[in-house]
Amino acid sequence: MVNDPVVINDWHPVARSEDVQKGALLPVHLLEEDLVLWRSSDQLHACRDLCAHRGTRLSSGRVTDGTLICPYHGWAYNGEGQCVHIPAHPGQTIPKRAQVKTYHVQERYNLIWVALGEPKQDVPSFPEWDDPTYRKLLCGPYGAFDLCGLRAIENFLDVAHFPFIHEGILGDAAYPAIEDYGTTIEPDGVLSKGVSVYQPDPYGTGQGDVVAYTYRALRPFTAYLAKESEGTRFSILFCVTPHTALKSTLWMWMALNYDYETPAADLIAWQEKILNQDIPIIQAQRPQLLPLYAQTDLLLNSDRTLIVYRKWLQEMGLRFGTVSA
Ligand code: FES
Ligand code: CO
Repeated sequence: MVNDPVVINDWHPVARSEDVQKGALLPVHLLEEDLVLWRSSDQLHACRDLCAHRGTRLSSGRVTDGTLICPYHGWAYNGEGQCVHIPAHPGQTIPKRAQVKTYHVQERYNLIWVALGEPKQDVPSFPEWDDPTYRKLLCGPYGAFDLCGLRAIENFLDVAHFPFIHEGILGDAAYPAIEDYGTTIEPDGVLSKGVSVYQPDPYGTGQGDVVAYTYRALRPFTAYLAKESEGTRFSILFCVTPHTALKSTLWMWMALNYDYETPAADLIAWQEKILNQDIPIIQAQRPQLLPLYAQTDLLLNSDRTLIVYRKWLQEMGLRFGTVSA
């Protein structure tokens, strides 16, 4: 397991709720740890994917009568990770050490979130989730990609690449200038307001206009953006599953309070097109990990959100995913 309390004591999305049906199990990899998610009658569980008997994977077993059964010799574990049945020794008292480590798990936004340690805060907030006026679409999971999740978050928070990487969609090469904007550290993370960029057709009218984004870094591996104009609002909750420092799965919840007609598949395909433009750029960055303490790159005013994001990460003492980790 990764040795960094910042990420260990944080919630991370690892699967969609529907990926673990009742009576089913799913292996997942989080922060270098092999886990198995499984669902008994109503309860969702996350435990180490390693049988206490002779170390095989529990995820190739099965769920029966509210227990997780190891495929090798049939030891049965309950939701607390305690072995409750050893078929080879039905009359013998079960040894205390016959247990597997369990982890905090909860479902939010139709995703399954796991914390390997003791979470210091709740799953990042996504207020649109409970607002029925918003249409919500899950884009992803995408990956797993060979890239650093912190680099992916920075890319998400970076508006100055729009005219180059997303020319004709999110930006126009004729308007690359980025006006200064303000960024602050709030109790719930980093906040940038009024991050404006010229877009060729932001409202589907065929007219170009300057649009303003609000960006938030809610956790090291979770970010958010919102774009507002004349009563319409578009937002994205962007989350990363850090399997390792350089292996990441990406998730996006898109929310909009307009356009209830365009087919979901079209809106998701549009988002995927943008993401596919970003991925090779992120993968090509050097160093691959975030140079959080090394200062190998040169950030300017147009990178204000990233400057403050890095300051915030430094203040929380993040090591995982960074060059000096
Ligand atoms: Fe799991 Fe033997 S290895 S029961
Ligand atoms: Co991009």
